[in-house]
Amino acid sequence: MKFDRFLHGGDYNPEQWFENGDYKEPIEADIIKLKESGINFVTVGVFNWAIINPSEDNYNFEYMDYAVKRYSEEGFDIIMSTPTGGFPNWLKKKYPSINRVDSNGIRRTLGDRHNHCYNSPDTRREISKINEVIAQRYKDSKITLWHISNEMQGQCFCKHCQNEFQNWLKEKYQTIEKLNFDWNMNFWSHTYNDFSEINPPFDFGDGSNPCMRLAWTRFNTYSAVQMYNHEVQAIHKYVPSAKHTTNLCYGLGHNFNYHTLAKHMDIVSWDSYHEWHRNDDWETAMYGILNFDLMRGMKQQNFFLMESTPNTANWRYASKNKREKMNEITSLLSIAFGSQSVGYFQMKRSRNHAEMFHSAVIDDFVAKNRFTRELKELGDKLAVMTEILDTEVKNDIAIIFDYEIRDIINYNVGPRKIGGMQYCEYFEEVHQSFIKKGVNVDVVNLNCDLTKYKALVIPMHFMLSDKQIEMLEKLAAAGTKLYITAFTGITDSENNLRRGGLEPRFAKLLGHDLVEYEAIYDEDYSVVELNGETTKTKIFHEYKELHQGTVSLCKYDFDLYDNTPMITRNNNVVHFGAIVCGEVVANLVTSDLKLVTTESKILKATRENKAVAFDFYFNFTKEELSANAQGTCIFSNQYIENPIIKPYDYLIVKRGK
Ligand code: GLA
Ligand code: ZN
Repeated sequence: MKFDRFLHGGDYNPEQWFENGDYKEPIEADIIKLKESGINFVTVGVFNWAIINPSEDNYNFEYMDYAVKRYSEEGFDIIMSTPTGGFPNWLKKKYPSINRVDSNGIRRTLGDRHNHCYNSPDTRREISKINEVIAQRYKDSKITLWHISNEMQGQCFCKHCQNEFQNWLKEKYQTIEKLNFDWNMNFWSHTYNDFSEINPPFDFGDGSNPCMRLAWTRFNTYSAVQMYNHEVQAIHKYVPSAKHTTNLCYGLGHNFNYHTLAKHMDIVSWDSYHEWHRNDDWETAMYGILNFDLMRGMKQQNFFLMESTPNTANWRYASKNKREKMNEITSLLSIAFGSQSVGYFQMKRSRNHAEMFHSAVIDDFVAKNRFTRELKELGDKLAVMTEILDTEVKNDIAIIFDYEIRDIINYNVGPRKIGGMQYCEYFEEVHQSFIKKGVNVDVVNLNCDLTKYKALVIPMHFMLSDKQIEMLEKLAAAGTKLYITAFTGITDSENNLRRGGLEPRFAKLLGHDLVEYEAIYDEDYSVVELNGETTKTKIFHEYKELHQGTVSLCKYDFDLYDNTPMITRNNNVVHFGAIVCGEVVANLVTSDLKLVTTESKILKATRENKAVAFDFYFNFTKEELSANAQGTCIFSNQYIENPIIKPYDYLIVKRGK
């Protein structure tokens, strides 16, 4: 999706500000202040259902009409949100089935947000109704993007959701016998007689069945996709060309399978909140990059930064203010890694209620808002960066991250029940090891287009379907280098252990047989000696017998299977038999690809198209750092060579290709 300029703005809820019904005066005053702050887009309608629709069949769009008209006239882009992040009390009272049922079987009461049942016919009908009214009303307005609901999340255990779950299972498995077999339900005599016996994982029910929990998680993503498409359908009825998104917010954390949900959006949007000025900001910036890489990887396209905070978020351990220039450098970091915008929650600070201590662009509750000037400066810079919109981030290496793998590893009992397999932590470690070497990567799952990469790093891909194995075989045969770690391909896509350790084709691809494996205690390790570096293994060991032609790069130094191969290479496939430091993985990949690496703490990224490249250099440390940069600074138009970058500063240079 293309935009004409970098959008800079965010959630605007003028309904918080009416006094005595007067909306014009505050809206006009906000327009002036937002312009002073370099803002050029507003998202309207997030959480305004009860105001535009105060009772059944009674609508009042007076202030919205005014806001949309006036902001458009003043040259702002408008993002129109559906209001379904929060439901009006009158509606939930009248149709209680909209309220979710929790995993303890208790139906929630009124209030709070992001908590409607996705499968209740009442919810579906009422959402269609309000979205259609909105779409019909604004079909002729210039709406840049439609924002569906807000931060879709969670699950519901009501009767409707249970029924839909059972129908979904029926569709997938066809017969109960097939499901019983795939899930091994004769274990503990839990054999189902009928789909109607399958409950979701209630707190007081069957939480011990990993397959049922995985199915329930997959079903929740399916429900979210259905709900997302249901909302979009109502908009498309009146605005068939409407481009749409919903803001993702959890990154690696618990929620739906974002890769699946993202496929339905025109552009992925991301709510980016990081905890600055607490730990090492350089490390925090790398975690920010991980999320940007994850979001860009969803559709393998640039993304939209929907929310961040101009200053502080109230829900942190403590709400520390962003220091001078911090908002600018963090916002540009997102652009360097693929964002097409800088969005904030929110445009105007709340006087009261749950987020009164959250910062905003307009802050009427301090005598002087130092951010106005900073935001304006950022807005001015974004205005001269338009050419960058037409560029992409291109990387030769991708790391695989998969939500279902994260979930199933979590649902299975063992092999490190208490210690945990640390899937997300390990993924983060590997990712960071590349960034620390100055080598950027994409983050994708196995359903993405993988043919464009020179190397794929596949950490702990516990489940591998036959199809995925075939796909990996093809990639390796075509020249892609694969770096696969232990705890990969232990089960099929239904979580059934593979007979003989590994599926035979996968064993052939890796070039070994898996003869034994074990999880290890935190204090256990084998030394890893590779390319002159000595490190340690952790979490999981696999012991293997090599096929002819497979080469051992490093052997175990461990009581059991001492002196047997640990890291091995079979043509284009490297296998790490143990979980080794991310650095060991990154070292091997970058030396195989003969990439130039660096020890510098400068964070670098490039956005490019066929004609030009823009190199971004960031210093998130307290020291001055020199950058190996050559090009024309996009702000000063001066040619720059190997400059010093001051603490918390950055540089963007342009170079021809
Ligand atoms: C989320 C929500 C917003 C707001 C912010 C606060 O991103 O979408 O409504 O609650 O968090 O940081
Ligand atoms: Zn429900």
